[in-house]
Amino acid sequence: MRFDTPATTNPIDQLKVVGKPVDRIDGPLKTTGTARYAYERQDVAPHAAYGYIVGADVAKGRIAAIDQARAKAAPGVLAIVTADNAGKLGKGSYNTARLLGGPNVEHYHQAIALVVAESFEQARAAAHLLKVQYTHADGVYDLADARAATDRKTIDRNSAIGDFPGAFAKSEVQLDATYSTPDHSHAMMEPFATTAAWSGDKLTIWTSNQMIEWNASELATTLGIGRDKVHVVSPYVGGGFGAKLFLRADALLAALGARAVKRPVKVAMQRPLMANNSTHRPATIQRIRLGATKAGKLTAIGHESWSGNLVGGKPENAVQQTLWLYAGENRLTGTRLATLDLPEGNAMRAPGEAPGLMALEIAMDELAEKLGMDPLELRVINDTQVDPAKPERKFSQRQLVECMRVGAERFGWAQRSTKPAQRREGRWWIGTGMAAAFRNNQVTKSGARVALDRQGLVTVETDMTDIGTGSYTIIAQTAAEMMGVPLERVVVRLGDSTFPVSAGSGGQWGANCSTAGVYAACVKLREAVAARVGVDVSGASFSDGLVTAGGRSVPLAGLAGDTPIVAEDTIEFAELNKRFQQSTFGAHFVEVAVDAYTAEVRVRRMLAVCASGRILNPKSARSQVIGAMTMGVGAALMEELAIDKRLGFFVNHDLAGYEVPVHADIPHQEVVFMDETDAISSPMKAKGVGELGICGVAAAVANAIYNATGVRVRDYPVTLDKLI
Ligand code: MOS
Repeated sequence: MRFDTPATTNPIDQLKVVGKPVDRIDGPLKTTGTARYAYERQDVAPHAAYGYIVGADVAKGRIAAIDQARAKAAPGVLAIVTADNAGKLGKGSYNTARLLGGPNVEHYHQAIALVVAESFEQARAAAHLLKVQYTHADGVYDLADARAATDRKTIDRNSAIGDFPGAFAKSEVQLDATYSTPDHSHAMMEPFATTAAWSGDKLTIWTSNQMIEWNASELATTLGIGRDKVHVVSPYVGGGFGAKLFLRADALLAALGARAVKRPVKVAMQRPLMANNSTHRPATIQRIRLGATKAGKLTAIGHESWSGNLVGGKPENAVQQTLWLYAGENRLTGTRLATLDLPEGNAMRAPGEAPGLMALEIAMDELAEKLGMDPLELRVINDTQVDPAKPERKFSQRQLVECMRVGAERFGWAQRSTKPAQRREGRWWIGTGMAAAFRNNQVTKSGARVALDRQGLVTVETDMTDIGTGSYTIIAQTAAEMMGVPLERVVVRLGDSTFPVSAGSGGQWGANCSTAGVYAACVKLREAVAARVGVDVSGASFSDGLVTAGGRSVPLAGLAGDTPIVAEDTIEFAELNKRFQQSTFGAHFVEVAVDAYTAEVRVRRMLAVCASGRILNPKSARSQVIGAMTMGVGAALMEELAIDKRLGFFVNHDLAGYEVPVHADIPHQEVVFMDETDAISSPMKAKGVGELGICGVAAAVANAIYNATGVRVRDYPVTLDKLI
């Protein structure tokens, strides 16, 4: 199905099942421990041997020698895989650094060996007996240093509209401030994990990955085998946040290990390796210049962002939201990249907007103060209903102002003091802050297969993943609505590369696109069912397990014989995306208390108002948003990969040292969804919301801290040493 005209009324609009806050259909499997994750596939890969990953102890250099004698002789050891004996490995297109390093080491904890043994403990013990000698090379590990060095610039790109320098110089009120955000780790609960088994020249991996087809083709390319020889299975994923978008070392090494020992091998990356071995959200330095009239109209908006990456890596696109969030005739965005020798920077929840809004939305707060304006009103008067770069291009939906108004009312924004450090309760300074939320809504093609069996059961198969987001449930709701059956009559199978290729889980496109693919397949199944009944589908209705047409009702059960009625389709998105700017909007409100003596910050209340098209399941959508708000609190107050700038690695590379919020850090959270459908986004009229939820949160916290204390911190995380 090509989706190239705005959606009209369709069966989803009935909202008998879609739009209801139903419980997760996979919930019981997960809460009873019966859902099998990648490392637990002894049911299909019995007698698996265990792999233990060895990471490089240097950030940059060359392996001079690996003495394997003692490790090889250790009890239970079956094989040691290194670049020397792994055969020729190809280079996929998603990863910058090689997943199996050697002899050159590109970053700290790059995998350089896999020790395979009968038990995990034996593999671990033997791994510690490997003696690796390196020749060290110097590297640069600090973004500010790399940014200052002339020989490290790789991207220096501007996009300009009007005359930014002229307009900024002439503006009545100016703000010129620089903000920094640190490196962040995904820190998902389930580590990278894979069980791999070969059958002849065919490889199956049971793994934990967000994007099945990317992973399958990347694995084939890296191993130098045909795509048709690779089967990827990833039905349950214990969190990803972008870390599991791509093929990682666990999957490649498990495949190589299994080939070496001729039996299944399983590999779970050890927690202390994860931060340096894999990708992270890269640190940024962002300079923002805002020029406005005395009345608060933005006349000049300038946002430049610097980030670092390995050679060949991409920049963090932190200026993205600045292209669309506010009106203003003279604009400049700049993206600057410098080479760094740290591990690879890549996508983490709302890449671009999440760190970009951490800076931009403090800047708006600062400008409002200079203007003597309510920061919310400053945002309202600078709203735009068109793409500032192409005024003929409207937003498909844009309720930013409405989100702020509703939020202000619900939160009690009017009670706020515009002047900082005015409200004291005992030893606590109290303050409130807000920020706008913005995240683009990407659409990408997505396929599904649906089948109706003799019992009237509807089965959906798609390689879509559920990374804890609720995909199983919203896909079941979609099929139930389309086929007119209760939710219990739908079976959903996900995360298998033998199923039709879906949009996968990334960039908050998964919910809208994957359900739209299921919609398309169900449209075909309805046609096939109508044909079987002998009626015209356009006059047929599907409800209560019956297909009704021309005064006649026929049960779905019994229509199929031994062979189910099967339909498959892929939704493809075309022109609409060019004609309209598709984004999601929101507003975050936060109240904090700051200890007057220790500067400890406690978040007291949080409210998010989101406008993101139709909400397919308010319960799972709310869970996505409160999870994202929690992650935003982490970014505001504690998350930071600390760099050893001499040796070039992230020091706090485990869950003890990398702090994320715990329950006691998170207060009352409220989420409001605006009543919205977006006919431009898909036949589902839904959009993404899981990444929108984090966008702007950290700035709202920082602004609340300023309101409480009068201390403006522009360098995240806002830890107490920066407040005192
Ligand atoms: Mo997301 S960072 O695209 O998984």
